[in-house]
Amino acid sequence: MSVSQAVEQRPLVLVVDDDPAEREQIARIFRREPVRVRTAANGEEALQVLEDEEVAVLLTDLKMPGMDGQELLRRAKEVRPDVQVVVITGYGSIEEAVEAMQAGAADFLQKPLDVQTTRVRVRKALEKHDLAAQNRALREQLDDLVGLENIIGRSPKMQEVFRKIRRVAPTNATVLILGESGTGKELVARAIHNLSPRRNRRFLAFNCAAVTRELVESELFGYVRGAFTGAVRDKPGYFEEANGGTLLLDEIGEMTLEAQAKLLRVLEEKEIYRVGGTRPIAVDVRILAATNRDLEEAVREGRFREDLYHRLKVFPIELPPLRERKEDIPLLVAHFLREACREYGTPLKHLEPAALEALQRYHWPGNVRELRNLISYLVLNIEGETIRREDLPEEIQREDNFENQGVRFPVGMSMDEIEREAILRTLEATGWNKTRAAQLLGIGLRTLYRKLERYGISGPSESEGSKEESE
Ligand SMILES: Nc1ncnc2c1ncn2[C@@H]1O[C@H](COP(=O)(O)OP(=O)(O)OP(=O)(O)O)[C@@H](O)[C@H]1O
Ligand SMILES: [Mg+2]
Repeated sequence: MSVSQAVEQRPLVLVVDDDPAEREQIARIFRREPVRVRTAANGEEALQVLEDEEVAVLLTDLKMPGMDGQELLRRAKEVRPDVQVVVITGYGSIEEAVEAMQAGAADFLQKPLDVQTTRVRVRKALEKHDLAAQNRALREQLDDLVGLENIIGRSPKMQEVFRKIRRVAPTNATVLILGESGTGKELVARAIHNLSPRRNRRFLAFNCAAVTRELVESELFGYVRGAFTGAVRDKPGYFEEANGGTLLLDEIGEMTLEAQAKLLRVLEEKEIYRVGGTRPIAVDVRILAATNRDLEEAVREGRFREDLYHRLKVFPIELPPLRERKEDIPLLVAHFLREACREYGTPLKHLEPAALEALQRYHWPGNVRELRNLISYLVLNIEGETIRREDLPEEIQREDNFENQGVRFPVGMSMDEIEREAILRTLEATGWNKTRAAQLLGIGLRTLYRKLERYGISGPSESEGSKEESE
């Protein structure tokens, strides 16, 4: 048992060569080394092993039928970022070796292989692998503390988001990013791109709601001259512009059904047709989609294609609203304070404890964006270096008062009386903002109106009470 365990923990060297005799010969070089050896006859087989096991060193022939060593090198790094690739080149073909080193190979060996040199160089590559793996583990621990790619959050819900980002980023998978407005969907999309092998190519964001529904198709797929009036010349769309990179389709729920059909086609065929065009154009684009809508409901109502929905939700990432991760608020406040003070060139300000507590009690309908804007506002408008509770917007103070007070119900009150009281106090706390009160009470606005009528509740004075209804 202990012996097999020790063997299990030995680093794995994967030998790839299409010639069976050579393959065995190379494998034999490592018989006495403290490593495990596996062999593969071609690139596809090798990738399978890479996916199944943590390969430390990949020793591969460059010239192979099918997927060659260069291509394998690239794909191996995608699957196992820490793997060290040592390429075997033909005698005297130094250009190939240079090319492989530029593509990220750790080392190269020339044929015919010298046993001693091969052992030494592979040992070196193993050391490099250990170092790379350790560094990555440390980086991930650090990321857990400060957040990933400037995404702040230590709450369990955000930790889960980070885990998902890390898992999906290196792949080509389509990701559906869900969450209320201002929760950081675009930030997450950028993080996925930055942590992917496409990081050096373009990241484009296209907002499906920003242009008219008719324009979405010509913007995304481009058009050919004469496709419609005004199309005076050929124009590539976002898909072509983002080729090799990542395209975020923001507010995807706003797409027309026709555009959805075309998008589905792109996802399946990896080619597009420009509007008015007849020639397919191959595109290699990773798609990320974001929405603050309920797509499932859109599917039920026939506004969103079910097949596209299933295609998109293979990997969903759901961003929690800020009110569900209030423990992250102090961290976010510190981050935004530093950011704003640096940007506006003011000395670093801070919040008094009562102010921070009030921010933690507020329900943040605009989520992180609202918090960030508030901090910028405070940094610009408050003179001293301490931001006090009374400097905060009225509605935040009001909600804070309300939460501080709590509501007490003496024994003997009927459910109706309790409900009436709860509604009344919530309305007072929100300054008679009925939309917000309904949110806090967890009921629909129409339900609230019905109950107001039923309990005979009307605003403090009509002019004040009706002020916010016009918004
Ligand atoms: N976890 C976070 N850490 C730091 N900043 C954040 C975080 N989440 C959001 N932000 C900031 O909040 C603002 C809004 O984020 P973002 O634009 O990504 O939201 P969104 O979900 O795409 O919103 P919308 O649905 O309105 O488009 C940005 O300035 C972003 O940098
Ligand atoms: Mg957005």
